Amino acid sequence: MNLLEVKDLRVLFDTRDGEVVAVNDLNFSVTPGETLGIVGESGSGKSQTAFSLLGLLARNGRASGSARFRGEEILNLPEQRLNRIRAQEIAMIFQDPMTSLNPYRKIGPQLSEVLELHKGVGRKEALAQSLAMLDAVKIPEAAKRLDSYPHELSGGMRQRVMIAMALLCQPKLLIADEPTTALDVTVQAQILKLLDELKKEFNTAIVLITHDLGVVAGLCDKVLVMYAGRTMEYGPVEDIFYNPSHPYTQGLLHAVPRLDIPGAALATIPGNPPNLQELAAGCPFWQRCSSATEHCQTDAPVLETFGEGRLRACHLESRELLEVV
Ligand SMILES: Nc1ncnc2c1ncn2[C@@H]1O[C@H](COP(=O)(O)OP(=O)(O)O)[C@@H](O)[C@H]1O
Ligand SMILES: [Mg+2]
Repeated sequence: MNLLEVKDLRVLFDTRDGEVVAVNDLNFSVTPGETLGIVGESGSGKSQTAFSLLGLLARNGRASGSARFRGEEILNLPEQRLNRIRAQEIAMIFQDPMTSLNPYRKIGPQLSEVLELHKGVGRKEALAQSLAMLDAVKIPEAAKRLDSYPHELSGGMRQRVMIAMALLCQPKLLIADEPTTALDVTVQAQILKLLDELKKEFNTAIVLITHDLGVVAGLCDKVLVMYAGRTMEYGPVEDIFYNPSHPYTQGLLHAVPRLDIPGAALATIPGNPPNLQELAAGCPFWQRCSSATEHCQTDAPVLETFGEGRLRACHLESRELLEVV
């Protein structure tokens, strides 16, 4: 059974210039222990997708459609019920750990409080479990760290503390929004390896949000490629990497740093994502797509099944696409 099932998710913002559709009819699901990557350039709607699930949209935003978590509708739930789900069943970590850590309090009390508050665990037991979790996320000298303030730790260590905090209540689902973007490449790899180990140890499902397709390679089972709030392509991670079916995915792939070819130039996709307020008919990617035809300018491609367990929204024949790669 699906742990999370999202159907026709739409996120709208009211702005002075009218309505903005930041997330446009998104569909995806996550099974227990599975990792889904949501990938796309900045502004494609990744964070708003996550925020809508947890009731964290800005005040001018609203969500429609459906999101079922363990069979229960969680979209637009009352605050009280959401608070319980957020604390105990779905955890979220962000790019900047300091958005969730209190700079004025020591790590130990911040961690143990989560357990005391949400699980009714006593202080002593809560500290013991916090210590064990700091060990699990491989923080050296964990006992000493309980007594540290967040600013005494490096960025990578702080992100480990965040992960520890997120996992303390043993959530079924972890949503990680650009968790390694602020870190240097070596630390980034360590954190991704850690997430991979933890998901196996705790059987936590993960939704990993990133602008970097390279990040999803080792960790994700399935990948959803988003652009201008829409799904461009969806499928098993191997297909996305070895046989991408959408020109946008191909562009993102070419923008992944090649560690195997030292000095290889990074190809970025020419142009910028569209302004959502000025989105015309047609494929939102056509202006940046080297294979676009007239058809692409006038009609938005619908999301269609493409091979085994794959979806894509593109007018091009797969034969034409192969020539592009
Ligand atoms: N409070 C807001 N008011 C109006 N538009 C917003 C608001 N928050 C986000 N958006 C729109 O949603 C788009 C997607 O944002 P986001 O999900 O944060 O992108 P990303 O993929 O980088 O995480 C933004 O480019 C912006 O157009
Ligand atoms: Mg974001």
